[in-house]
Amino acid sequence: MANKDLPRHVKIVEVGPRDGLQNEAQTISAEVKIALIDRLTLAGFANIEAASFVSPKWVPQMATSAQVMAGIARKPGVLYSALTPNMQGFEAALAAQVDEVVIFGSASEAFSQKNINCSIAESIARFQPVAQAAKLHGLRLRGSVSCALGCPYQGEVTPDAVADVVRRLRDLGCDEIDIADTIGTGTPHKVQAVMLAAAQAFPLAQLSGHFHDTYGQALANIYASLEVGIAIFHSSVAGLGGCPYAKGATGNVATEDVLYLMQGLGIPTGIDIGTVVDAGQFISRHLGRKAVSRAGNAIAFRQNV
Ligand code: HMG
Ligand code: MG
Repeated sequence: MANKDLPRHVKIVEVGPRDGLQNEAQTISAEVKIALIDRLTLAGFANIEAASFVSPKWVPQMATSAQVMAGIARKPGVLYSALTPNMQGFEAALAAQVDEVVIFGSASEAFSQKNINCSIAESIARFQPVAQAAKLHGLRLRGSVSCALGCPYQGEVTPDAVADVVRRLRDLGCDEIDIADTIGTGTPHKVQAVMLAAAQAFPLAQLSGHFHDTYGQALANIYASLEVGIAIFHSSVAGLGGCPYAKGATGNVATEDVLYLMQGLGIPTGIDIGTVVDAGQFISRHLGRKAVSRAGNAIAFRQNV
């Protein structure tokens, strides 16, 4: 069957080096992070979330972010992004020459308190100078809405609550806004309802889907998002990750699986799946466990036979 109603091109934002690694218990050296990012750059991603300038007391794994940014081999045209919850984070990101800063809020009051230690309204007030500074310095600005499909602390989150935060991030001047299923509880029809609600407040073409795969729904949710016109997705090589403030939540959907899906649908991404599989096997070997990617492991197995 033809693809006529699905987007003609999809942008995949690789978030493994940040979302993927931030929750790892073992300390990963800056060298390994750099080697991973360099492999991902070679694979052809146009956007890699490479670092996070948050408090090292809150997320110790990201403490080497400046060193990582200084060590990577940048490819012209590729956007290297970093999380910046406040001005302290922004200044560090600016010094590290990131291309895009990410302000990350939540559609759930409870999660906002646990993750960034303030209410939703306070977070928007904190983001305001970050957004202004990003514009002043010509950096791209992305906003992220956590718990858009459910919260580990308060449960249900309504599409209206998501749209409300999207509207506030839009008013700060975000170039792109992520609808994040932090704990992976979303299912396709609810995802479509949330995406369409968000699209009432912000252009659909600049909305992205950020799905954690805790309940195994991420690929179905990506397909459902494609059906309503979403053409930007976040994924994590080897399915790495989780969020330290969403206990039990697993990694993002694996990049290899998303690429395999896009390949099958005939939707170009500009990314070489074989190089991503190699990157996934590299970091999984380093972490001492099997990659959490069905397609990645199947392709790696075939290549080794
Ligand atoms: P706070 O304790 O309220 O901050 O934390 P504060 O302003 O009172 O400062 C306290 C201390 O932190 C001070 O140090 C500051 O210097 C330091 P002290 O005087 O005690 O030595 N500090 C910083 N250090 C480095 N960089 C900074 C920074 N800011 C303050 N930027 C804060 C507030 C936001 C800092 C804290 O709550 C925090 O860092 N939270 C980050 C949590 C996090 O990174 N979570 C994971 C990422 S979000 C995510 O994964 C979700 C996402 O993937 C989408 C999804 O799936 O939902 C994006
Ligand atoms: Mg996440």
